Amino acid sequence: MNPSYCVTLRDVQEAQGRIQGLVHTTPVMTCSSLDALTSRKLFFKCELLQKTGSFKIRGALNAVKSLPSGTCNAVVTHSSGNHGQALALAAKIMGIPAHVVVPTTAAKCKKSAILGYGAFIVDCEPTDESRIEVAARTVQKTGGVLIHPNQDPAVIAGQGTIGLEVIQQVPGLEALVIPVGGGGMLAGIAVAVKAIKPEVKIFAAEPLNADDCYRSKMKGVLTPNPQPPITIADGVKTSIGPNTWPVIRDLVDDVFVVTEEEIKSATRLIWERMKLLVEPTAGLGLAAILSRRFQEKAGDIHNIGVVLCGGNVDLSSMGWLIEPSMNSS
Ligand SMILES: Cc1ncc(COP(=O)(O)O)c(C=O)c1O
Repeated sequence: MNPSYCVTLRDVQEAQGRIQGLVHTTPVMTCSSLDALTSRKLFFKCELLQKTGSFKIRGALNAVKSLPSGTCNAVVTHSSGNHGQALALAAKIMGIPAHVVVPTTAAKCKKSAILGYGAFIVDCEPTDESRIEVAARTVQKTGGVLIHPNQDPAVIAGQGTIGLEVIQQVPGLEALVIPVGGGGMLAGIAVAVKAIKPEVKIFAAEPLNADDCYRSKMKGVLTPNPQPPITIADGVKTSIGPNTWPVIRDLVDDVFVVTEEEIKSATRLIWERMKLLVEPTAGLGLAAILSRRFQEKAGDIHNIGVVLCGGNVDLSSMGWLIEPSMNSS
């Protein structure tokens, strides 16, 4: 393994030992109607059924458990999404306080989930500068440690445990399709899978509106999104970073970008055909497989794993659920 990567197979294996028994080994599900639609055999790794509703608990727990014992007063993060919830639960399990910096505009359900796991919420303005500045101040004030959602090596190693599980669960796996935001999940899985089964192709899936990973791979240079992207796949608005980029550059075989319509229709297909309430970010993998470019570039690959990365849907954003006619009878 290239020593310049921030994590190794061994780190991922150690992470697996550290988090074992505290997270679920999520099931792999199949769906004959989606197989027929794609003319493949698809294996869905159900991280939406993971604790906290996404894979993020793997990395958060590994990071919190890796902190030198007795030296950490608190943990801090500036992610109000799935990592915020995951870090809150990880800290609760380990009996230390968590402080999650959340923009004042964040959805109420996200704040409730973070509070529900016992973390403190620290308000900030809805800008990157404010998040970072408030998080730095919170670290100073609490003597806590900042756990980055996707560039912290222990987080990346924790997410890589998905890869260790899936190659055990699907012996004939030929490829794995993984949504990419900051790239923690993609890089962790790529390091683990390529070290054990280098023949398995690792494909990334991302929205066309947040295509920094695709553009970085095309140029061969880390190329972040120029401005905050607008996409329904809110888990992957962030850009890949300095720790995940070298792994992605070398070990990811291809990146497939999909439109907002393709994400919506793939998400809906998973709801309807599999009866699984995935969040739109988790629709990215199926959307990529259904795309024309995937058919052209990966036409001969049959057994494909798809990471259904999360299920934290804001139900209040689904208008029909809260229409008066539904509630009045
Ligand atoms: C559900 C879901 N999927 C995918 C991602 C992207 O993960 P990463 O930033 O490690 O690429 C996130 C990140 O928050 C997420 O919440």
